[in-house]
Amino acid sequence: MAEPLKVVVTGAAGQIAYSLLFSVAKGDVFGPDQPLELLLLDITPMMEVLNGVVMELMDCAIPLVKNIVATDDPKVAFKDADAAFMVGAMPRKEGMERKDLLKANVRIFKAQGQAADQVAKKSIKIIVVGNPANTNACIMSKYAPSIPKANFTCMTRLDQNRAQAQIASKLGVSNGDVTNVIIWGNHSSTQFPDVAHASVNINGKKVTVPEAVKNDNYLKNEFIKTVQQRGAAVIKARKLSSAMSAAKAACDHMHDWFFGTKGNDFVSMGVISDGSYGIREGLMYSYPVRIKNKTWSIVQGLDINQFAREKMDATAAELTEELEAALAECEA
Ligand SMILES: NC(=O)c1ccc[n+]([C@@H]2O[C@H](COP(=O)([O-])OP(=O)(O)OC[C@H]3O[C@@H](n4cnc5c(N)ncnc54)[C@H](O)[C@@H]3O)[C@@H](O)[C@H]2O)c1
Repeated sequence: MAEPLKVVVTGAAGQIAYSLLFSVAKGDVFGPDQPLELLLLDITPMMEVLNGVVMELMDCAIPLVKNIVATDDPKVAFKDADAAFMVGAMPRKEGMERKDLLKANVRIFKAQGQAADQVAKKSIKIIVVGNPANTNACIMSKYAPSIPKANFTCMTRLDQNRAQAQIASKLGVSNGDVTNVIIWGNHSSTQFPDVAHASVNINGKKVTVPEAVKNDNYLKNEFIKTVQQRGAAVIKARKLSSAMSAAKAACDHMHDWFFGTKGNDFVSMGVISDGSYGIREGLMYSYPVRIKNKTWSIVQGLDINQFAREKMDATAAELTEELEAALAECEA
């Protein structure tokens, strides 16, 4: 059997982690033959709750889980880590704006970046889930300069899954029949869910989503708004932010990073911009990516019309503003 993979989950006593840990532990992400060491990080007042989570994980008696460490010290959690799910943050409550969250959260990611820089493997693969996810990932990477920037990503897979599910439901097909939906930009209400390059399998025939839906007005308005506002709609209904679906999306993201994307298909991930599609270099921007040998690359050459251009630029402008506010907060 392979050596155990060291997997960090921060915010391990929280609600996303409660679903995420179970999926990771039983092999959904790193494969059914990969033993795991789970490194669970939360804050000191949550240690008792975290201990309860550890007890439950033990009681699952999952053969892949070789060791569990529960800690409030980032340097213990990140020691020699191979992969990290950065979930721990203050969650958005009903009516709370993202910018209120920013100040509280970027400092956490600065400190955790510094810890990862000192003790994690340089090959560690990091997904940031805690909001504002894109900017937190950017800050974490800035404060972990010895780890390649390509190893920091943020999650927009939940938005992609939401968009895919909306289209599947609209067309009465299965979720798996819809591919190549793109989320551009920020994991926020300015994100641009784009189906111009997406396909759907209808009765064995592959057609573009716009051809299948035959309703441009829906795709340009109601569809985009529904996906953009889905997080808020879940909070309104559940009085808690998305957790089961967020955990599933984090698993999808990390799984594809480790095992690659299929054929010509692509998935959306927040990655560091190299200037592709005219987006400012250095922003953590969600792009369509293909993954091979655990390395993502931004899909190039997609046609961008005026409608898309404006939406892609608007979400980039929000990210620039967020990043500048975050840098000011970190340097204060
Ligand atoms: N990117 C996405 O698509 C997406 C989707 C849903 C939720 N989220 C975000 O994920 C985050 C977690 O959501 P949740 O519902 O699990 O929240 P939660 O409040 O249930 O859990 C968060 C956990 O993080 C812990 N935490 C806080 N500060 C920490 C620190 N410095 N180090 C380690 N742990 C810390 C808290 O103690 C808590 O246990 C939130 O920021 C939420 O907005 C992102």
